[in-house]
Amino acid sequence: MAWVCPIAVILISQCLLCIVTASDDRWAAFSQLGWQHGDRPSHDNSIVVLLALRQRNMDLLERKAQAVSDPSSPEYGRYLERDELYGISGSSAYNVDLVEKFFSELPGTFQFSFGKDFARYTCTIACVEKVFNTTLRIQKGRVAPGTTPIRASEPVRLPVNIQNALEGTSLNAPLFMPPHPRQSKVMPFRYKRSGRTAPRVRPMMVAGDQFISIHFVAYCKDKVVNQDTVQNGICRNSPHSRLITAFDVLVLQTATNWQKLVRVPAVPDTLGEKVAKTEDNQTCTEFNATLGNIQNYASTTVRIRSLFSDGSVSDFSDPSEVMPSWPMAYTTPSLLSRNYRIPMHEPVRHPRNSISVAEFLGQYYNPDDLDAFFKLMGVREWGTRPKLSLIGENLPMAGSVLGGEAQLDIQYITSLAANVSTFFWSVPSIELATRQEPFLDWLMQLEDTDDSEIPLVHSVSYSDDALTMPFWFKRRVNEEFMKLALRGITVLVASGDDGVSGNFVAKEGLKYCGVNREEFPSSSPWVTSVGGTQLAQENVPVCGYASEDVMVQCPHDGEVVCTSDKGGGITSGGGFSSDFPRPWYQHEAVEHYLHQTDNPVPSQDKLKYNKFGRAFPDLAALSSNYLVLMGDDLTAMSGTSASTPLVASMVARWNEDRLQQRMPPLGFLNPLLYQILSKYPSAFNDVQIGDNRCSRGSACCPTGFAAARGWDAVSGCGSPDFQLVAKILREDAMMSFRSRFSGPAQPLALDAVQGPGWMFLIVMMLLQSLITGFVVFVLMGGCRRWKLVHAMRPLLDG
Ligand SMILES: *[C@@H]1O[C@H](CO)[C@@H](O)[C@H](O)[C@H]1NC(C)=O
Ligand SMILES: *[C@@H]1O[C@H](CO)[C@@H](O)[C@H](O)[C@H]1NC(C)=O
Ligand SMILES: *[C@@H]1O[C@H](CO)[C@@H](O)[C@H](O)[C@H]1NC(C)=O
Ligand SMILES: *[C@@H]1O[C@H](CO)[C@@H](O)[C@H](O)[C@H]1NC(C)=O
Repeated sequence: MAWVCPIAVILISQCLLCIVTASDDRWAAFSQLGWQHGDRPSHDNSIVVLLALRQRNMDLLERKAQAVSDPSSPEYGRYLERDELYGISGSSAYNVDLVEKFFSELPGTFQFSFGKDFARYTCTIACVEKVFNTTLRIQKGRVAPGTTPIRASEPVRLPVNIQNALEGTSLNAPLFMPPHPRQSKVMPFRYKRSGRTAPRVRPMMVAGDQFISIHFVAYCKDKVVNQDTVQNGICRNSPHSRLITAFDVLVLQTATNWQKLVRVPAVPDTLGEKVAKTEDNQTCTEFNATLGNIQNYASTTVRIRSLFSDGSVSDFSDPSEVMPSWPMAYTTPSLLSRNYRIPMHEPVRHPRNSISVAEFLGQYYNPDDLDAFFKLMGVREWGTRPKLSLIGENLPMAGSVLGGEAQLDIQYITSLAANVSTFFWSVPSIELATRQEPFLDWLMQLEDTDDSEIPLVHSVSYSDDALTMPFWFKRRVNEEFMKLALRGITVLVASGDDGVSGNFVAKEGLKYCGVNREEFPSSSPWVTSVGGTQLAQENVPVCGYASEDVMVQCPHDGEVVCTSDKGGGITSGGGFSSDFPRPWYQHEAVEHYLHQTDNPVPSQDKLKYNKFGRAFPDLAALSSNYLVLMGDDLTAMSGTSASTPLVASMVARWNEDRLQQRMPPLGFLNPLLYQILSKYPSAFNDVQIGDNRCSRGSACCPTGFAAARGWDAVSGCGSPDFQLVAKILREDAMMSFRSRFSGPAQPLALDAVQGPGWMFLIVMMLLQSLITGFVVFVLMGGCRRWKLVHAMRPLLDG
């Protein structure tokens, strides 16, 4: 069963402690795959060094965090106030004094966070090098525009007593790569000027629901590129003056042996045109055409030939000149609303209900685009503009840095959780004289935010290879997420876009196959990790089945794992953490996955992974082909960074029900999710097809984790049926809270019973028996309905 097994809890918390003492990489020089030490930064620029102070009582807090987020615990929903939390976890007074005294006697400025478990020390480069006895260097790698990451190129050395008071510093903290979403951007293409008569198709096609659009140029009889317009007559000015009267476009879908020949007459009705460039900077005329009735969800390419006025035809162009496209529906707010049954047009009303999107590395959104997106997508507005609060800076006019990530997050969250208070939480990029460690900096800002103001749901679309990060950093970030769980805050993190091998294969090639290289913080046990799916017709194996006698077409599309080799643009991240042991809440689900009979899990000689580690993702949702408005253009984007804000908007709506009932918000979701999966498997659309052996590009390893019935390490529990989960949360007393939330003006903490311990015990026992009675009643009442559900989809040990 999914209920907490006390022994497992103790084992897990002790294991966490084992790891804590196992390694000490706090003082090492910075080193991360894909980055090299570059020049020395200018000595008189100042830099902020983030100090993580040693904390206390993490094991105690961990048990408490498990209790407040586990629906089967009597303490479920009884979150801690911020003061209470940092009273327990903060550094000892001795350490706080020591660190404060040391740094305040140095040049520069020094400032503690609210709980005094973090501090910022600001000084010049020269001063920091002296204080930390190290050399700082600018890091060269895939740098976000306008940023200058600086890290220690030699080990850091502080006096021993100060080192003992610290868990680490930002001087060797990992650098997060620019964010994930993939934009299938149509780049200007330079055509050859001469040497062929077959037309040349631009390598990138645009594909959507049952259509593809191609761009191409024609070559005349003298093998020189055409410069004439359709109106004038294609190739009129060519020496041979044979006009091109039509083109034959051959659409090929080789996997299904499907092909279609379309004759496109050379008339303005069927051909668009514009001026394009050749390799030697001459002009030519580029035509475009759109072809419909193309089968969706299949790898599609085209060949094209010209028909001349003398009756001759050119060769067909080579199919390898065109990158295969996958026609499939574009994802829009209304598609998501239909697919997940999200009541997009019902406004969220509770003033405390809120979502925050964390944006790093200079990602900005444009408010005008947001307005235009709402109009274009038919999203209803309440008030003049969605309520957006800005933390940090937003520079929407900074053209090139305008972020696809930020635009995507904001456009979809505000569409699907209409009228929810949305925080655009921008953490400055890595620049000289600004903060160097956006991730810890963001966590510190949350710590500094009051209980009555901190957003209830956070969507984080940034993650990177766990194996390249120092362990102290991962452990600390993980503990910060645990503290947010204690405050009743939901954190959703994208599971990654590069499948089982993380960025390694995407960046460094196939030699990194064969090992599960998980991302972090996607694989933190204290966040809800969100994987990606795409729509496909073959989600039920029989759909799409074709033989000579039978062709099975299923009326509804379904979800399969989002994979780049099936046109998804990216591949859902997932696997097992090598740093953190398997948490209590997913034990049953992961064991079930590891023991499936049809081998969705590769053997260790094909793929190395830590099967005792925290397994992720926890759930998944559509992540491919989101239409995002960027200035004048709609751009299709794919990424688990699209599914993450989508799930965030669902959580806000589930929270809405609870807040309206004066119940506490859902907080850390995972124990609840896995208990719902165990009791009501139909609350999730089970994703059973696909695997994550590919990366986001075209590189695919031989093995990855495969989707399976029930939980799997590619799609987690599957995608939530929004309405069913909402119903379960309303009706199942076990999933409900015992305690009440007192509204926006008051803190979330509900440790109301301050009186003598025996009174508390009696109250709890009474409550317990009342609730047990209620559960039995509800289960019996609802028995028929849920039994049916179980019978249709046996899941665990069924
Ligand atoms: C840094 O450490 C080295 C080795 O212990 C020592 O020789 C040197 O004096 C230190 N430099 C500073 C500026 O403290
Ligand atoms: C290409 O031509 C344009 C003018 O048509 C000129 O401004 C540009 O410098 C040229 N570029 C190259 C690389 O020759
Ligand atoms: C050609 O492209 C333009 C701009 O993208 C578009 O508006 C037009 O509909 C296209 N024409 C055809 C025939 O595809
Ligand atoms: C939007 O939310 C606010 C509270 O944040 C509420 O007062 C208002 O009534 C809501 N708007 C609608 C149309 O429900």
